[in-house]
Amino acid sequence: MLLADSYQRRFHYLRLSVTERCNFKCTYCLPNGYQKKDCEPDLSLAEIEILIQAFVKLGIRKVRLTGGEPTLRRDIIEIAQVLVAQRGIEEVALSTNGYRLSSIAGPLLRAGVSAINLSLDSLDPENFKAITGTGRLNQILAGLEQALSLGFQKVKVNLVLLRGQNSHELAFFQDWIRHRPISVRLIELMQTGENTLFFKQRHLSLDSIRQELIQTGWCLNPKKLTDGPAQVYSHPDYRGTIGLIAPYSPGFCEGCNRLRVTSKGALKLCLFGEKQESLRDCLGDISLQETLLQRVQTLVAGKPISHFLHDGRVGNTLNFSGIGG
Ligand code: 5AD
Ligand code: SF4
Repeated sequence: MLLADSYQRRFHYLRLSVTERCNFKCTYCLPNGYQKKDCEPDLSLAEIEILIQAFVKLGIRKVRLTGGEPTLRRDIIEIAQVLVAQRGIEEVALSTNGYRLSSIAGPLLRAGVSAINLSLDSLDPENFKAITGTGRLNQILAGLEQALSLGFQKVKVNLVLLRGQNSHELAFFQDWIRHRPISVRLIELMQTGENTLFFKQRHLSLDSIRQELIQTGWCLNPKKLTDGPAQVYSHPDYRGTIGLIAPYSPGFCEGCNRLRVTSKGALKLCLFGEKQESLRDCLGDISLQETLLQRVQTLVAGKPISHFLHDGRVGNTLNFSGIGG
């Protein structure tokens, strides 16, 4: 049983949000902090287990835990263990804002999590505070160093590029990865339902950055079939790499290999899709697995070819806190 859509795309990667809650106030995402919208609880550990058993049967091989901030869940280690224990899952990854990284990196590694993506929008404490609303940059950097020294093989740092807010820090980031084997990924700011004005002020296309990288000796690495949407550049003088994630570029959706499930158990076929379909009524009992498998297969078959961001259409995505980007 495999998941495929009508454009011959296959899906082996699931991004699972485990909570909408977040303790940061990133200017582009939750500038006023997380506000609780309804009383529906996040998926329980038991529901997550039933969900993942079905997705493994459907060919999912990699799962990323996202949020909000996934480490705000007290049972995040148990969740990771349940995912790792599934036969067929080859990689369990986690995206985090790093707030709890120094205390949780060890338990995550022991649970079998093999990859960590850290959001890090600035290397300057003042600027970091201005962008994320938290003054804990040093603690987060310490958590990152710890994850590296504990032996996490895959550590990526994501920064959302913001015109006039962190775009001047690219040189700092380059210096920073001269001797560190970190893959820094620059994410082009995306428009959401809530950030329209901010988007107009801060959006910066990655095209100019791409030119700059090429002019200063960075070279595009060839892409493997299983790679994500980043175009990765490397340079002989640097141990780290720089990836560009440019969702507004042509062809971005062609290689889409991922599906998303929100923290309330809804399948989201595209980050910017209009639709999301709740799977929750099938997650209460394993006896409903057959219905769940069929529902997911039918929904995935109808996945749209692309987002329609170019037309300013952002679907029902108000911000990314429930779906983890
Ligand atoms: N544009 C681009 N990326 C975003 N993220 C959140 N909101 C946006 C946005 N509007 C991504 C960032 C962040 C993660 C939680 O989601 O990478 O670190
Ligand atoms: Fe920032 Fe991520 Fe929290 Fe949004 S969910 S406020 S991007 S840390």
